[in-house]
Amino acid sequence: MTNMALTPNVPQYWELLYEEGMDEWDLGEATPALLDFFEHPSCPKIGNVLVPAAGRGWDAEAWAKRGYDVVAVDFCSSAFDALEKLSENNSNLIALNTDMFLLNSHDKKACGMQFDIIYDYFGFNSVHPGRRDECIEMWLKMLKDCGILIGFFCPLSDEKYGEGPPYSISREELEARFGGMLEIKEKIVPKKSATDRAGRDRTGIEEIWLLRKTL
Ligand SMILES: C[S@@+](CC[C@H](N)C(=O)[O-])C[C@H]1O[C@@H](n2cnc3c(N)ncnc32)[C@H](O)[C@@H]1O
Repeated sequence: MTNMALTPNVPQYWELLYEEGMDEWDLGEATPALLDFFEHPSCPKIGNVLVPAAGRGWDAEAWAKRGYDVVAVDFCSSAFDALEKLSENNSNLIALNTDMFLLNSHDKKACGMQFDIIYDYFGFNSVHPGRRDECIEMWLKMLKDCGILIGFFCPLSDEKYGEGPPYSISREELEARFGGMLEIKEKIVPKKSATDRAGRDRTGIEEIWLLRKTL
């Protein structure tokens, strides 16, 4: 992705990428590793799902098509317009046009509920590294005590941040940031892979992390 004066903290940054066709992360279909994960015994069978930084919502729709009640969040108009269309065709998918850092489980205008499942793919890694703890705090607020966070964190790498977004993160940093708040229950190695529209390997998803709140 290019360097711009805007930072990924603002929707305008993402809007430009969508407008200029630089949305290379967008496969135009659900993430193959997610479809694979749906068949895994550790995939929760029921529950409502929060998809923060949902983009055009291919993955959010995949959850909805399997019967989960889904809230998909994005703060950029191009992504939100696509989410709204999905919402019109899937009665169990709600599209929310807001900054995910403003989500509030007690305020109906800012979502107003907690979730059994939070699904993150490219959300956490899209966030500026300086806001990583804030992102974890948002998850903790929005996740039910018995809930599960499903993290497709990528790139998982020792390289410091990379060019970003997506900003890389090491396993050690993830574990340190989660320490005392989220317990790692399982790490799953996905089978399926895909290339993005720039021909890059999307097997950046080396592991799917399943985490629960430390109570
Ligand atoms: C790299 S894209 C990933 C989209 C999606 N998860 C996917 O895999 O297709 C990042 C998306 O996160 C959205 N985003 C970034 N920061 C956000 C924030 N603070 N609140 C809501 N959406 C955000 C952007 O608008 C963009 O659509």
